[in-house]
Amino acid sequence: MARALIGVIGGSGLYGMQGLTEAEEVQVDTPFGSTSDPIVCGKLQGIPVAFLARHGRGHRLIPSQVPYRANIHALRQLGVRYILSLSAVGSLQEEVRPLDMLIPDQFIDMTRKREGTFFGDGAVAHVSMADPVCPAVADSLARAFATTQDGEPIRLHRGGSYICIEGPQFSTRAESHWYRSMNASVIGMTNMPEAKLAREAQIAYATLAMATDYDCWHPREEAVTADVAIANLQQNAARAQKIAAEAIRLLGTEQPESAAHTALASGLVTPVDAMP
Ligand code: ADE
Repeated sequence: MARALIGVIGGSGLYGMQGLTEAEEVQVDTPFGSTSDPIVCGKLQGIPVAFLARHGRGHRLIPSQVPYRANIHALRQLGVRYILSLSAVGSLQEEVRPLDMLIPDQFIDMTRKREGTFFGDGAVAHVSMADPVCPAVADSLARAFATTQDGEPIRLHRGGSYICIEGPQFSTRAESHWYRSMNASVIGMTNMPEAKLAREAQIAYATLAMATDYDCWHPREEAVTADVAIANLQQNAARAQKIAAEAIRLLGTEQPESAAHTALASGLVTPVDAMP
């Protein structure tokens, strides 16, 4: 089977990875069914990469239907050790303007109907999610952002909480104000349980969040609509591709250690020889 060091999960508007050489589509079987889409394995500057369109090409899956367990299991089977999650988000803070980018360092999980663990059925683990984002992967994204700066007025914000809602509807105004009162920076519908599952799979994970709108809390801005969010995302897609490519080069060259790589060492409760 094709092997990959780095997985890229592309969200809304990001259905492919430019510049992949030796690209081949692979269908990876998992105990959790099929992935969102066939995974495209290839090389970027010689570094083996696996690209997965989170919603499927053509955007067929609502956030609740994304097979998060299958996706992470398949990437793990391919040998992935680092995941770059490229995700559209709404902004919950004035200073994070639409078209700005943000690398969150925390997640708040408000999802309700998603399978969120690989454990159960006789095997128990409680991995730490205190620091759900790998600092080394986050740094590679930030350094990549800096080196791909090309005069556009797009700003990068480091840190902040990404609140993940079930969707597919956008939030009510009351909910949006509530999330702001939690001091969340951005809002999206997909990074949970993806980040939790990546941690259980001992894959280092970080998100490049692209702000497309001010959700519906802002007193002077129109409430978000899907067409505005997608139009803004399309403006940012080319930049996101460049940032991902440079982050891949950095990660592939440096291959940093990550606490995520040994998450189960302190999290596994069931003795390994007792596991089914
Ligand atoms: N993705 C992009 N904008 C969003 C918003 N306002 N709420 C949830 N997910 C989003």
